[in-house]
Amino acid sequence: MTHAVPNRNWSYPTAIKFGVGRVAELAEHCHAVGLKRPLLVTDKALASLPITAATLNVLEAAGLGRAMFSDVDPNPHEGNMADGIAAYKAGGHDGVVCFGGGSALDLGKMIALMADQTISVWDLEDIDDWYTRADASLIAPIIAVPTTAGTGSEVGRAGVLTNSVTHKKKIIFHPKLLPVVTICDPALTVGMPKFITAGTGMDALAHCLEAYCSPFYHPMSQGIALEGMRLVFENLPLVYADPTDLDARAQMMSAAAMGAVAFQKGLGAIHSLSHPVGAVYGTHHGTTNAVVMPIVLEFNKVEIEGRIDRAAAYLGINGGFAGFHDQVMELRALLNIPASLSAMGVQFADLDMLTDMALEDPSCGGNPVLMTRSNTRALFDACM
Ligand SMILES: NC(=O)c1ccc[n+]([C@@H]2O[C@H](COP(=O)([O-])OP(=O)(O)OC[C@H]3O[C@@H](n4cnc5c(N)ncnc54)[C@H](O)[C@@H]3O)[C@@H](O)[C@H]2O)c1
Ligand SMILES: [Fe+2]
Repeated sequence: MTHAVPNRNWSYPTAIKFGVGRVAELAEHCHAVGLKRPLLVTDKALASLPITAATLNVLEAAGLGRAMFSDVDPNPHEGNMADGIAAYKAGGHDGVVCFGGGSALDLGKMIALMADQTISVWDLEDIDDWYTRADASLIAPIIAVPTTAGTGSEVGRAGVLTNSVTHKKKIIFHPKLLPVVTICDPALTVGMPKFITAGTGMDALAHCLEAYCSPFYHPMSQGIALEGMRLVFENLPLVYADPTDLDARAQMMSAAAMGAVAFQKGLGAIHSLSHPVGAVYGTHHGTTNAVVMPIVLEFNKVEIEGRIDRAAAYLGINGGFAGFHDQVMELRALLNIPASLSAMGVQFADLDMLTDMALEDPSCGGNPVLMTRSNTRALFDACM
């Protein structure tokens, strides 16, 4: 796999070691931040893959052990967290290496956050200054090594945790959830199943698009979101067609990180619809976003048309808003994303409940069009 990806060390929003093969540096970054007994947190499927064994080998060869916790479900929940904390304490660990997609990264973050706190994790939901309830001095260092290119959790200060009693996805926030070091090694993403490549890539696009359209004032995020969209439109078809294209994989990895930096500005209805669907049906987050994306675009048209016209001009898309909408539809079809929520298994009988949950989701507040009970229910109907 020849490529022209340069090695770069970036310093915002955290220390990012970007480049092909750079996971080999993991042990030196552990040493640099003082980790002597890291726990590698990954998920069940990744646990048995060669990239995970190779990463554990890097730790072991440097005298850091090869401890792994992998009992992590997609859309991870508090039961996974409790098991992970038990493993972390039993092993006498002093920090977490989060290795995987958003599910493993977020759950690893939750272990580092909650291992030594006395409050409930739900007290740290991303509301006002609730994060101050945590004892920050007890939060363990986090190193992140993403193996998907979508969520951007590797550069974010939050983790998404599903409450398995209420079936609600909650965003847990603390500034110290920002990994101290992130290794972005595009080679790790080459083995993703095709539908995960597609879904995670569309998550990155959803982050950029929703941040770009959100009405809040944040010009820095606006710029990052726009360029992030360009990287996805140009590179997601390439990695879908040729999973080994490391140049395009690298661009997608950048786009994922850019999406997460950009969505500090806000998210919107794509995420407020997709969070309850993911929590209730266990669907893949980014794929669910992709299903609802064109319908949400249409829903928001009245508020975002001018803005999307400008984006289309930058992206080289003819036809302004309509051209942009067509481009999203084409990308969705090219990636074999289901065309409706019903095709993903969502039941009409659940739509009232899902509407209530969407309106409670924090992303709802960043949507350009005010979301009400009636228009949100109609939006769900349109997505079916
Ligand atoms: N923290 C955040 O800011 C944030 C943002 C968006 C989404 N999320 C959350 O992230 C989760 C979704 O993460 P995701 O989309 O990365 O999917 P994921 O972590 O659930 O992984 C999906 C599947 O891909 C497999 N996989 C991952 N990398 C692989 C690789 N390189 N080779 C082979 N298989 C691989 C995993 O084992 C898993 O089976 C959701 O829970 C979502 O809510 C978090
Ligand atoms: Fe997302």
